Amino acid sequence: METKLFTAPLDEAQYEEAAAIVRRGGLLGIPTETVYGLGADALNEDACRRIYEAKGRPQNNPLIIHIPDMSWLPRYCRDIPPAAYALARRFWPGPLTMILPRADCVPLRTTGGLDTVGIRCPDHPVTLEIIRRAGVPIAAPSGNTSGRPSPTTAQHMVEDMWGKIHGIADGGPCGVGVESTIIDLTCTPPRLLRPGGLPLEDLEEVLGEVIVDEAVTAEPEAGKAPRAPGMAYRHYAPKAPVTVISGDPDRSAAYIKDNCDGESGIICFHEYLDAFEGHTVYDLGHKDNKAEQAHAVFDALRAFDETDVTKIFAQCPDSAGLGLAVENRLKKASGFHVIRV
Ligand code: TXA
Ligand code: MG
Repeated sequence: METKLFTAPLDEAQYEEAAAIVRRGGLLGIPTETVYGLGADALNEDACRRIYEAKGRPQNNPLIIHIPDMSWLPRYCRDIPPAAYALARRFWPGPLTMILPRADCVPLRTTGGLDTVGIRCPDHPVTLEIIRRAGVPIAAPSGNTSGRPSPTTAQHMVEDMWGKIHGIADGGPCGVGVESTIIDLTCTPPRLLRPGGLPLEDLEEVLGEVIVDEAVTAEPEAGKAPRAPGMAYRHYAPKAPVTVISGDPDRSAAYIKDNCDGESGIICFHEYLDAFEGHTVYDLGHKDNKAEQAHAVFDALRAFDETDVTKIFAQCPDSAGLGLAVENRLKKASGFHVIRV
């Protein structure tokens, strides 16, 4: 298949062509503020089936649907609680996905057979414009091949999807860098299913108590289905095995120093770059700047695939703010191979 790259800034004709791909049931790589998505018409079962095929994704892993503003919410969800509107008013467009009861018009193919739907309004002008022109919500998982780190640039989309999809809209590098936060509003208290670009502390300000699902911090138990089906899978994994070192940054750096060798790749905080001179190193950002770390984490995990390192050590931030999402992505990439120092 020929893949068309729509380079930024898209002109009138390119927007029309990109929206036409969606309307015809095709596959389009779309930029969002979190990560790039692999988009298709959320109401078209065949189009959604093709998303699963292109990603190599298990069919029972539901897709998030993307809408251009809050007014579309009642079209695709039922029994919407006031809390959903309160969150939408405060955080949309933005990196927050809400799980709500599914309206009948949303195919089960889109929701992986569930009677709920994940829905969000992304904060990216290119994608908002494409959705409005297409006139339909866009279902989009992250645009990576299943199991690989999520794409945060159009180039990452090209690496994973060139020749497999109809188009990629280049909207520049993603501002946030980790996927959206997922909150399940079908239970009381609401439950955090995936930490992401919106910190838990912000949700708690609006919702009060929020339960953090076990799958956020611990390896899923064999045979037990997590509430967000996608949390069951090994994820974000580079080719070389990853070991995550959590705890005080001085101590985690010292641990890595003692245990690494010439074939090790190292993901470290900016302050420790000098300490690892001579190694293959990726700068995760300053140790107290979680936004920098969220922005860098997926590129860090992809970057070592271009090198011949045989193992990777990663320093890990504490879980406050965006740290919870960075920590979750690193731990999942390591298959929960974590050393606490
Ligand atoms: O930031 C994001 O959310 C990106 C961009 C493209 O919007 N999308 C994304 O999609 O990360 P994906 O498919 O890679 O991750 C969606 C996660 C999966 O773990 C899936 O199982 C869960 O959301 N999910 C989707 N619908 C759900 C539902 N109805 N109930 C529970 N979990 C759901
Ligand atoms: Mg994903």
